[in-house]
Amino acid sequence: MKDAAPATRATERVRRFYDRSAPNYDGWMRLFDRLLLGDGRKRTCARASGDTLELAIGTGLNLPFYRRDVRLTGVDLSPAMLAIAGRRARELGLRVELRPGDAQALDFPDGRFDTVVATLCLCTIPDERRALAEAYRVLRPGGWLLLLEHVRSPVGPVRWVQRLLDPALVRLAGDHLLRDPLDHLAGLGFAVEQCARSKWGFVERVVAHRPR
Ligand SMILES: C[S@@+](CC[C@H](N)C(=O)[O-])C[C@H]1O[C@@H](n2cnc3c(N)ncnc32)[C@H](O)[C@@H]1O
Repeated sequence: MKDAAPATRATERVRRFYDRSAPNYDGWMRLFDRLLLGDGRKRTCARASGDTLELAIGTGLNLPFYRRDVRLTGVDLSPAMLAIAGRRARELGLRVELRPGDAQALDFPDGRFDTVVATLCLCTIPDERRALAEAYRVLRPGGWLLLLEHVRSPVGPVRWVQRLLDPALVRLAGDHLLRDPLDHLAGLGFAVEQCARSKWGFVERVVAHRPR
């Protein structure tokens, strides 16, 4: 119980931040996408198949990149972000189940999904290890975890700048620059199949699975 209160406060702060930022999110994220992600969203989402859960789906910027036969569910903390995702899904003619929810405590049974996708959210979710543990739980054995994240760079000067900026970004936007999902995946039981780094190690694409 002792740990629950601070995590809840941090989660609530993140929700408020994204509710406020939702109207401007696509504008600044498209710039980030162009400068840093390239075709990362497309490459990540193209691998999803079957019953797929996108954690922290935000405004649904990944929606155009899923195959049409994917049965997609998206959760996010922020109702304002989800409202934009809903509009985008309608414009694209996609059927997506969108639910308000916390990636750290998913409201789905064990083994419910074939694929879990997370893009640019493990940097923001207060307890990213818990979110990854939940991803493991809701994946069926043999299911895939697909990640696209900005992470702690292995390149010294880049990491130095990240260390400098991290406290301010955490305070302002709940955005952590010094994380890396690879710190947790093996310990949680995932088998990492691929890890591709770009932009001086700042951007990481991971394909992992829950062993059978
Ligand atoms: C930087 S945005 C990324 C949105 C989207 N994944 C993308 O690639 O554009 C971070 C998102 O994570 C969501 N988020 C943060 N913590 C969360 C949590 N604990 N559970 C669910 N969503 C969360 C925020 O509401 C926000 O929509």
